[in-house]
Amino acid sequence: MSLRQVPFLDLASVTSAIRGELELAFAEVLDHGRFINGPEVARFEAEFAGYCQARACVGVANGTDALELILSGLGIGPGDEVIVPTNTFIATAEAVCYVGARPRFVDVLPDTLLIDPDAAEAAVGPNTAAIIGVHLFGQMVDIDRIQEVARKQGLAFIEDAAQAHGARFAGQRAGGVGVAAGFSFYPGKNLGALGDGGAIVTQDTALADKIRRLADHGRSAESRFNHDLRGRNSRLDSLQAAALSIKLRGLDQANAGRVRAWEQYAAELPEHVQLVSRHPKAEAVYHLAVVEVDNREAVCAALTAAGIGWGLHYPVPCHLDSAYAEFTGRMPVAERAASRILSLPMSPNLSQQQVTTVCDVLRGIPR
Ligand SMILES: Cc1ncc(COP(=O)(O)O)c(C=O)c1O
Repeated sequence: MSLRQVPFLDLASVTSAIRGELELAFAEVLDHGRFINGPEVARFEAEFAGYCQARACVGVANGTDALELILSGLGIGPGDEVIVPTNTFIATAEAVCYVGARPRFVDVLPDTLLIDPDAAEAAVGPNTAAIIGVHLFGQMVDIDRIQEVARKQGLAFIEDAAQAHGARFAGQRAGGVGVAAGFSFYPGKNLGALGDGGAIVTQDTALADKIRRLADHGRSAESRFNHDLRGRNSRLDSLQAAALSIKLRGLDQANAGRVRAWEQYAAELPEHVQLVSRHPKAEAVYHLAVVEVDNREAVCAALTAAGIGWGLHYPVPCHLDSAYAEFTGRMPVAERAASRILSLPMSPNLSQQQVTTVCDVLRGIPR
């Protein structure tokens, strides 16, 4: 148990609730010994594809690989540009660079801090191949508008769904709407493994087959000793898949716990602490409870003094990060938000009392 009064995320207690189930599932893997490509992997892939209302799922080593493999699978590489919102975890841009393409960063909307579809459309050039919509903080991007831009411009729309397991927009699940979606199962995610893990989800079974081969050294479908694609190694372990199947069964309930906490924040936070908005068509799963404040330093200091965990997602927009300096530009909405955002404690089992404690401390901070 954490010593903090309100931890940012208490993963040990989330996991302890399913410890018995995990131990039984791990014992099965230890008994059969197929640690790579064991039956647990195919089972989880089928379950997760079904959950995302998609036709196929390919388990991989992490969420960054998932994005990179989608881009490779689509044949995106040197000479291509990919539109990426500047407000995202750096992995989104990293994946684009790793396949040899160039990220074209664009600004975000001031209310949701998600990709601005007009900015995306304005950024389309002769070399643009795809748009990556990042469903950040547990909320899907404006699917209607971004799909319209992608369709009109003849671009692939890729979902970065690393923070949005189970989220919906106009009833459609994250992972089922783009050409393909990349998920991360980093332990703190809504659906988290007990280590690294990731998946690609898609309606396109031919793309899924190609990505599966790319992730397994480019092996030919006919012979495992022939490699007709230049691939790599990125696989989901049997142990992680076994854990993910168990956690997937509890995902909707865990997400409901996050929604409850978010609604309580919305009701109890003082006026000077503004939650990032939700689009009316979005059913968010609140991976993070992100707020904007005028006096972030003072707020962080007060939270720390009260034993309350907090985070910053993300204080440096990608276009201002030093490794990406050659792709810079002016993105005033993201730049302003980067200095004002702050993530409050959020987890499936955050208690009512804990949310009240956080809100009380915030209310007591002089403005
Ligand atoms: C938005 C986003 N994209 C991509 C990733 C990369 O996932 P991973 O850490 O599993 O490589 C993450 C998570 O860390 C993320 O939050």
